[in-house]
Amino acid sequence: QKAKRILLRGRLLDFSAEPQGPGDRDAIRYVEDGAILIAEGIIAASGSHAEVAAKAHDAREIDHRPHLLMPGFIDTHLHFPQVQVIASWGAQLLDWLNNYTFPEETRFADAEHCAAMAGQFFDLITSHGTTTAAAYCSVHPASVEAYFTEAARRNMRMIGGKVMMDRNAPDGLRDTPQSSYDDSKALIAKWHGTGRAQYAITPRFAITSTPEQLEMAGALVAEHPECYVQTHLSENHDEIAFTAELYPDAPDYLGVYERYGLLHERSLLGHAIHLKPREIDLLAQTGAKPVFCPTSNLFLGSGLFDDAGLRGRGITNAIATDIGGGTSYSMLRTLDEGYKILQLQNQKLHPLRAFHWITRGNAVALGLEDRIGTLAAGSEADIVVLDARATPAMALRMERAETLSEELFVLQTLGDDRAIAQVYVAGTAQK
Ligand code: GUN
Ligand code: ZN
Repeated sequence: QKAKRILLRGRLLDFSAEPQGPGDRDAIRYVEDGAILIAEGIIAASGSHAEVAAKAHDAREIDHRPHLLMPGFIDTHLHFPQVQVIASWGAQLLDWLNNYTFPEETRFADAEHCAAMAGQFFDLITSHGTTTAAAYCSVHPASVEAYFTEAARRNMRMIGGKVMMDRNAPDGLRDTPQSSYDDSKALIAKWHGTGRAQYAITPRFAITSTPEQLEMAGALVAEHPECYVQTHLSENHDEIAFTAELYPDAPDYLGVYERYGLLHERSLLGHAIHLKPREIDLLAQTGAKPVFCPTSNLFLGSGLFDDAGLRGRGITNAIATDIGGGTSYSMLRTLDEGYKILQLQNQKLHPLRAFHWITRGNAVALGLEDRIGTLAAGSEADIVVLDARATPAMALRMERAETLSEELFVLQTLGDDRAIAQVYVAGTAQK
């Protein structure tokens, strides 16, 4: 017996390339009366309603007009154990970690706490329109179990990994080089490629790992080139100075990760703000991906990410919330703050590039553009339905909006979870 197919009707928008300017229509596909046919969690067809509906007489139609149908948002850097750290007052990075974040993460030693927080975490990202994310779990393997178990229950494409950290952290939050290797290895065997799960080898950052641990992380990377690597890079000046003290022989911060073999195209480097020319060369050579975290960089006072400078070197930048240093689960809020950070540097983020970034752009950064990030036939049916009139302020502004770009800019500047009318994960409606 064949599962019932569904047909979503609405204004369809996705991207086939990064728009090169505000008028680049070649990179976008916009269909005023569009439709997406979904069968068994996969997009079977997408295009004009007339064409797609003609092939889908058996399908159940869900009419989302006048809303926009877009690929689900992708968040390339956030911390699952920080759902109760978000909105902690007053500190910059190292004090914020020591005073708020590390104490909170120690609570994830308890598997019941992990499970409860995983339910909340996935509810939150989904209600904000995010259907794929790359998350740091805590040092405890139980946190990774809870994370991937909950992701599997919801059939979500999620990336995650156990944080490796063996120094400069409190009791209850340190592993050892050997245990971090063994635990990561077992988690990779259990979860990487299981359903939609993908594993990220996750040395937290240079400060919380001994050279011996980074050596073990490098062994994991060599043994599992199919996995992601995620860590933090050059977020804050005090962090950079401390890293230089701990690794006096390294030429610079990125040189530490280089030395231990942690850099390839699937390496995601959170923040990457205060970079030296050699580090930028190395990013370009290795294909490692800087991850721009706008709300976090402003909240922790970390600095201004040089998007244009890195892009000019052919580097692919990802964009992310960095919950709980970041202040919103919404990729729309993230774009808004990103826009302002670029404004301060006389750089521009136009709305076509912005919406490409949080969908196909982040998928490209993850090497997943054949599976997620577009509405192309064959992609997984992770879809967000956007309402640009969701609040009184948005509806009033929309009275004066004439173009698609204006509508997108209203969504990016004023939108949040209230603008998410519906979310489909592998073809299943989430509300
Ligand atoms: N650097 C190392 N750990 C963290 C973290 O949890 N959040 C942020 N923003 N930076 C980090
Ligand atoms: Zn982070």
